[in-house]
Amino acid sequence: MNDIKQAPIGVFDSGVGGLTVVREIMRNLPTEKIVYFGDTARVPYGSKSKETVLRYSRQIVRFLGTQEVKAIVVACNTASAMALEEIKEEIDIPIIGVVRPGAKVAAEMTENKRVGIIGTQATVGSQIYRKLIQEIDPEIEVIGKPCPLLVPLVEEGWLKDPITDMVLERYLKELLSEDVDTLILGCTHYPLLRSNVRKLVGERVHLVNPAYETAQSLGKLLRENGIANDGHEEEEFPYRFYVSDMAERFTDFASTILPFDVSSAKKVNIEEY
Ligand code: DGL
Repeated sequence: MNDIKQAPIGVFDSGVGGLTVVREIMRNLPTEKIVYFGDTARVPYGSKSKETVLRYSRQIVRFLGTQEVKAIVVACNTASAMALEEIKEEIDIPIIGVVRPGAKVAAEMTENKRVGIIGTQATVGSQIYRKLIQEIDPEIEVIGKPCPLLVPLVEEGWLKDPITDMVLERYLKELLSEDVDTLILGCTHYPLLRSNVRKLVGERVHLVNPAYETAQSLGKLLRENGIANDGHEEEEFPYRFYVSDMAERFTDFASTILPFDVSSAKKVNIEEY
């Protein structure tokens, strides 16, 4: 039987955004293999109902099961908010999302107990960050702001465009007037706008990138379960990418996020799972 420690980690997102989480996993856990699935045919999840996001997430988890992954990372804030709790009960391998690690570090960082969270309609509307932060400290005030225009701007590659800064400024104005000292980048695309956000909020506000914290939590989870990979098998390229549509567009974008050229992504008919 194959050693489970050598099995890959399954990571999924509604599209390309989850690659910001993959990037952190690669940095923090360089010996781990990864199978990534981006649901490029059905993105965005952020404007869909819980029922739909749960159905999509279940299909992806079934697909990742066929890849014999040893653990799963839900690298999408929306799917973490809408589907993680249910799926956790349905599978027998460890699974984590990006929300709990992000909430934990925000609760630790805030000094004035005022935390802002930006994300999709679904994530902010679910109030999940508020719930998890207040479980840690009920006195922390959590102020959410959905920013639906940011995902398309990032996907268009307009990271250094004044239009993106204008949109961001308009979204953040309200949060800044609430005197938050910590801001959660609660959508997988937003870490790519980190320097734009930093410019607008100044040095006083702590920025929380849940992707980074998730990679740390994943390492802990693998060690606790005795399934961390202790060494690379050198002969094999350790990363595989799957999408539900537009594989070429995905590889182009992926190559701008990851520290190497992603040469191919395989298209999967996810509705079959
Ligand atoms: N990946 C999603 C998230 O982190 C953003 C894109 C979408 O709406 O699907 O919430």
